[in-house]
Amino acid sequence: MPNEPRQFRLTVDELPKRWYNIQPDLPEPLPPPKDPDDGTSRVEQLPNMMIGECLKQEFSQDRWIDIPEDLRSLYLQAGRPRPLFRAFGLEKALGTPAKLYYKSEFYSPTGSHKVNTALAQAFYAREQGFERLTTETGAGQWGTALAYGCALTGLKCTVYWVRAVYRWKAARMAFIKLLGADVCASPSDRTECGRRLYEKNPEHPGSLGIAISEGLEDSRNDPKAAYSLGSVLNHVLMHQTVIGLESQKQFDMAGVYPDLIISCLGGGSNFGGFALPFMGDVLTKGKKTKFIAAQSQAAPNLQGEYRYNFADHAEMTPLLKMYTLGHQAEMEPIKGDGLRYHGCSPIISLLRHHGYIDTVAYPQDEKHVFENARLFVRTEGFLPAPESAYSICCAIDEALKCKETGEEKVIGFNVSGHGFMDMEGYSEVLGI
Ligand SMILES: Cc1ncc(COP(=O)(O)O)c(C=O)c1O
Repeated sequence: MPNEPRQFRLTVDELPKRWYNIQPDLPEPLPPPKDPDDGTSRVEQLPNMMIGECLKQEFSQDRWIDIPEDLRSLYLQAGRPRPLFRAFGLEKALGTPAKLYYKSEFYSPTGSHKVNTALAQAFYAREQGFERLTTETGAGQWGTALAYGCALTGLKCTVYWVRAVYRWKAARMAFIKLLGADVCASPSDRTECGRRLYEKNPEHPGSLGIAISEGLEDSRNDPKAAYSLGSVLNHVLMHQTVIGLESQKQFDMAGVYPDLIISCLGGGSNFGGFALPFMGDVLTKGKKTKFIAAQSQAAPNLQGEYRYNFADHAEMTPLLKMYTLGHQAEMEPIKGDGLRYHGCSPIISLLRHHGYIDTVAYPQDEKHVFENARLFVRTEGFLPAPESAYSICCAIDEALKCKETGEEKVIGFNVSGHGFMDMEGYSEVLGI
């Protein structure tokens, strides 16, 4: 260990110049969005709801899509490329023969991987002449990232924040406001779909599905606004592939190739961003890497049904083919609330359907997850976001299996965010 490098860094010039679009490499064409049997056409509404360039990317069959130079410059401003670390401290504590590597999305200025698509979406929205973006947020990480993207590109931003989380993340709320965004708890009394729930119960905990409906309704009523989604959609996962593309180069530098890729999964953007470039190698180059998505039993969407379902609560989106628990499923709030979403992105769902992705769902009390995050903090020194703690927990569980079997597996996992604004969650779950 002592002379082996702990950290793999890329130069500014090595920041990816193109995103990877996995669509042409999928084992079958992605089932397209469709309309329900009755009601107005949601598919026809898409150009009115979404940023034009993002909509184009959503259906693109081009394997590589250029990242505009001005956007690359914003990625540099946000601190990309980010290092890959070898987790020597954690390996030693576990006594495992496995080699553990983690990507450091926690170095993001807003605290998570979400900036990679927030900057792209804000960039394209400004190019198209929009003045405001509306959105949902669960953990608050996506809301902060979009507020940041809008601040840097001179756009206004409105964030509908799942009430269960809005209530306990005061520091993150102040951060979102500091960035200049307008933020309210969802369900709110600002939209028709929010009011229906809010008036019945002003303390309604909310869900990502409800907050998406509110953001959509808000932007639909303002021609200068577009709606921006932080996960699930194909173009969002594609923007996130900068994570996996950088990591591939860094594993090259380390002289190893991962046997196992692990990440947490809510709607699928972090998992997809890290895993899809490696998945491309499996699909086109015969690599044998395995993939595990770490979830919560509060929202084990990958164990739901594979079928067409709405992406939001109020049925304003088209139907997407995905693993789902049902778009109006009630799911108990958790500290890793960014994982509490009813459905999984169509791309990841298709790959799961074809057997390429395994999943694990950890108990809702989150004790096992947070205890493993504590071990990570004490051995590696970085404080993960509660959602990222699920990736770490799964990597630790897999490393312990290697200890039993003696396998020297190379395991890569993504620490999608930091937890500096989540200390109440740690204190409550761990009784600190
Ligand atoms: C730090 C972090 N990681 C992961 C997620 C899960 O979302 P997704 O599956 O889109 O990556 C979230 C969602 O809010 C998050 O904040």
